[in-house]
Amino acid sequence: MLLPPSTWLPQAPLDPLHLDWLTQAGIEVAVLRLDRIDPLISGNKWFKLIEHLKAADRLGAEGIISLGGAHSNHLHALAAAGKRLGFSTVGLLRGHPQQTPTVKDLQAFGMELHWLGYAGYRARHEAGFWQPWQTRYPTLHPVPEGGGGLPGAEGCMQLRARVCTQLAGLGWSDYDGWWLACGTGTTLAGLVLAEAGDHPVYGALAVPDDHGVAQQVERIVQEAGVVDVVYELFEASRGGFAKVDPLLLDFIEKTGQASGIPLEPLYTGKALMALKQQVEAGKFARGTRLIFVHTGGLQGWRGLSSKN
Ligand SMILES: Cc1ncc(COP(=O)(O)O)c(C=O)c1O
Repeated sequence: MLLPPSTWLPQAPLDPLHLDWLTQAGIEVAVLRLDRIDPLISGNKWFKLIEHLKAADRLGAEGIISLGGAHSNHLHALAAAGKRLGFSTVGLLRGHPQQTPTVKDLQAFGMELHWLGYAGYRARHEAGFWQPWQTRYPTLHPVPEGGGGLPGAEGCMQLRARVCTQLAGLGWSDYDGWWLACGTGTTLAGLVLAEAGDHPVYGALAVPDDHGVAQQVERIVQEAGVVDVVYELFEASRGGFAKVDPLLLDFIEKTGQASGIPLEPLYTGKALMALKQQVEAGKFARGTRLIFVHTGGLQGWRGLSSKN
C-alpha cells in the first residue's frame, strides 16, 4: 500500500500577504501555504505525487523509482513519503556522488541512490531509458522527473478546492487569478485544468525559455482534453535556473521580514519578485485579488545558500 491513511489530510492555510508595493497598487494577494502542509513532504510535491502513487498502487507496485538532482525537492518529498508510508524508493541522480543536505536526507530516509553522471542523466528522455531499471527493480513504478506529466497535474487540480473553501475566511467572495513559479509547468497545468477557463493562471518561469515549459503545459492540457484554458507565462529566471543575484536575495530577506513568509531564491522568491515587477508595470487593475502559491522548496536551498 503506497497511499496515506485517509486520516492524513495535509492542510495548506491561505494567508493574506501584506506588503507595501501591493498596498500602493491596490492589489490583494493571499498565499496558499503549501510549504506548511508537512515538515518533510512539503510544497507542490505531495500534490504532484499523489496520482502517481495511486497508479503505482493500482498496479500492485511496492515502491517508486524516480529522478532528480542533488538538491531535488521532488526526490526529497518522495523519499520522505516512502519512509513515512512504508514503501521503497530508488532515486536516479544527476551528476557524480556528492553529499548535499538533500542527499544526506535521502539516505537517512532510506532511498537507494544511483548516480548517473551528466550524460547518463541527459538520456532520461530517450526511449528505452527505463528498461534496464525496470528489469533491475521490477516491483517499482517509474515516476518522471519532478513528478510531472498528466498524473502530476491532476494531483494539483485539488488546489483550487483548497483555496475556495478558505476564501470566506479572508472575506473574499472570489479571486481574479493565480500566480505561481513554474519549473516544468506541471503545477500550473493542474490549475489550468481545474479552472477550465474560470480564472486565469499566471506562471513565473524559474527556468529559461528553452526548457520548454509552454510545450509541456500544452501537452498536458491536450492529453487531458480540456479546451477552455487561460494562462500566461512570464520570464522570471533572472539569467537562468538557480542563478541568484544580490537584488533577489535582498528582496527575499525584506519580504520575509515584512510578511513573516519564508521564500527561497530558486522558485518562490523569483516568482514573487516577478509579480512585483508586473504589479509595478500596471499589469493588474486596482482591486485585483490574486492567489500566490507558495510551492515550498525551502529544503533545497540549504545546500545552495553557502555557494551564493
Ligand atoms: C519549490 C518549487 N516550486 C515550484 C516548482 C515548479 O513546479 P512545476 O515543475 O510543477 O512547474 C518546483 C519544482 O519544479 C519546486 O521545487
